[in-house]
Amino acid sequence: MGWRGILGFEYGIVQAPLGPDLSCPELVAAVANAGGLGLLRAPDWESPDHLRELIRKTRTLTDKPFGVGVVLAFPHQENIKAILDERVAVLQVSWGEITEELISEAHQAGVKVVPQIGSFEEARKAVEVGVDAIIVQGLEAGGHVIGKDGLITLLPRVVDLVGDQDIPVIAAGGIVDERGYIAALALGAQGVCLGTRFLATEESYAHPTYKRKLVEFDKTEYTNVFGRARWPGAPHRVLLTPFFKDWKNLPIHENETNQPVIGRSTIHGMEKEIRRFAGTVPNVTTTGDIESMVMYAGEGVGLIKDILPAAEVVKSLIEGARRLIHQRFNGEI
Ligand SMILES: Cc1cc2nc3c(=O)[nH]c(=O)nc-3n(C[C@H](O)[C@H](O)[C@H](O)COP(=O)(O)O)c2cc1C
Repeated sequence: MGWRGILGFEYGIVQAPLGPDLSCPELVAAVANAGGLGLLRAPDWESPDHLRELIRKTRTLTDKPFGVGVVLAFPHQENIKAILDERVAVLQVSWGEITEELISEAHQAGVKVVPQIGSFEEARKAVEVGVDAIIVQGLEAGGHVIGKDGLITLLPRVVDLVGDQDIPVIAAGGIVDERGYIAALALGAQGVCLGTRFLATEESYAHPTYKRKLVEFDKTEYTNVFGRARWPGAPHRVLLTPFFKDWKNLPIHENETNQPVIGRSTIHGMEKEIRRFAGTVPNVTTTGDIESMVMYAGEGVGLIKDILPAAEVVKSLIEGARRLIHQRFNGEI
């Protein structure tokens, strides 16, 4: 069928790493227990001990395999060492160069390397160095968006590039329900990676107001208004909140550094101030003017009608896809 598991996981459903800390152990474990691949998110600074704690906490909640996402644009050597020492199943990487050395170290530790890419060129490099699977991110995706192509055009190109090599291709961007899942399979993907849908779950570490807005609002925009100083050149897709509407034309010379502090958060054990236009989404610990903080979301957010348990999301994707194939397609076109 080609739409069952990937990389040894029961189902081809991947829960995206949700930075900085929204894909918490509870979410990752719930996805793992439901048969999907859940991904923790490493801190954006070297904090191997904290990362080990996250991995070990997740292991107290599930005996199934799971992975960790690392954004290579930030310091990460020690964090990756901890991930390999802990021998999690998958190391997901994004926003940086993947070396053959990294792949070989990971493989020696029994860890599979899965980059998220946003262009054909990035996919070609990933195949050349020998990755284990590729997540193709389309412009529809929530959070930081690395490429400029829509999923419907980029995904089949990457599928063709991979050809008959054993490298599962996983689709990311705007997928929320079984219809998106089946569409991705039709384009040649073997799995799907969902961020926004898993953000809007009971287990995610997002602030309750952020979760509520994901249900309330249905439009997103691709922008570079948030976190310009801390992470330049990293456009992102955000929810079209009243705050963002008011500020979406922020003059290019402005950034978060000289803005007022609008709140505080504890992120991966560190106390942080949040300035206006910072790229930091509100988590459960955040206090202050939550509605004026960045809220990343993918184009599929208009399909999200409620906050669900993460296991329910996995189950409805699988059962819905089975039903859809049977009822709608049934071998005919
Ligand atoms: C809140 C949020 C945080 C994200 N953080 C990361 C991250 O840390 N690393 C990463 O590779 N992708 C991250 N992404 C992007 C996802 O990996 C994925 O491409 C995206 O969520 C797919 O689109 P969707 O949100 O429409 O499902 C994030 C997305 C969201 C919504």
